Amino acid sequence: MIVVAGSANTDLVARVSHHPEAGETLLAADYAVHQGGKGANQAVAAARLGAPVRFIGAAGDDDFGDQIVADLAAEGIDADGVQRFPGSSGLALITVDEAGENRIVVVPGANGELDGSRDMNGAMGGATVLLVQLETPIAFVNAALAAGRAAGAEVILNAAPAAPLKAFEMAAVDWLMVNAGEAAFLLGESEGASRDETADQAARLASQHNVGVIATLGADGALWVGDDGAQGHVPGRSCEVVDTTGAGDTFAGAFAAARLEGRPVEDAIRMAGVAASLAVGAAGARAGMPDRAAVRTAMSAGE
Ligand code: RIB
Repeated sequence: MIVVAGSANTDLVARVSHHPEAGETLLAADYAVHQGGKGANQAVAAARLGAPVRFIGAAGDDDFGDQIVADLAAEGIDADGVQRFPGSSGLALITVDEAGENRIVVVPGANGELDGSRDMNGAMGGATVLLVQLETPIAFVNAALAAGRAAGAEVILNAAPAAPLKAFEMAAVDWLMVNAGEAAFLLGESEGASRDETADQAARLASQHNVGVIATLGADGALWVGDDGAQGHVPGRSCEVVDTTGAGDTFAGAFAAARLEGRPVEDAIRMAGVAASLAVGAAGARAGMPDRAAVRTAMSAGE
């Protein structure tokens, strides 16, 4: 069982020719409402690949909250751990440009009500892999990390959106997952201009926090550094890009699914990269998330 502890949002998405500058007003080409939130997206990515998934998070008592819970259940995810709070559900205001790149503003809503008071140990029953992000309050993240460690799960922390790690229970983490920008942020440096520079930053994060680090590199694939210093790089797969929203979440969820089925780390990264490359081919965080058959086909074609 994979347990995902994190945020659930409704994404309000405008497709634009370019992202607005300060003070600029833009007319969008169109507008769509999608399901989102880093935690819920990661849960869906794993579930689409056939993994049993439990989601622990929050929704408001509004219509968006009903939809959040209904969509998770429709994906076959155990959503009993979604706490309902009075008020709004999480919202993400997103612009996506013609290159498929996004800008995201998150209004936490109910996600911001999560804290360390719930029974996280109970929620971890049967957990083999725990996946957590940083889009929920620190106390909630830390309660989940500690419970995951206590349950003996492999604990993966996707440090997105990036925040200083000193606030978090890093001793409970096995794998820290970041993109190149997040890796640089965590070190207080600029983003690496090359794969080697990002690899160096990943190695320093691994050593500082005594964890394995996986750094995603967009079209250049992903690299990893083990807590024992072993390293590797998995090349990216060429793909059509419509919308990169949720690509990192697809990678994280698919990596968790691959680890649940016992794949070694580099193999799991390869599968996650293929899943993410398929996900960016459709608009919205989840529309392009592949199922098991699509990933298997792309992997066996060696694309
Ligand atoms: O990672 C993409 C997600 O970030 C979106 O779905 C949005 O809701 C924000 O959480």
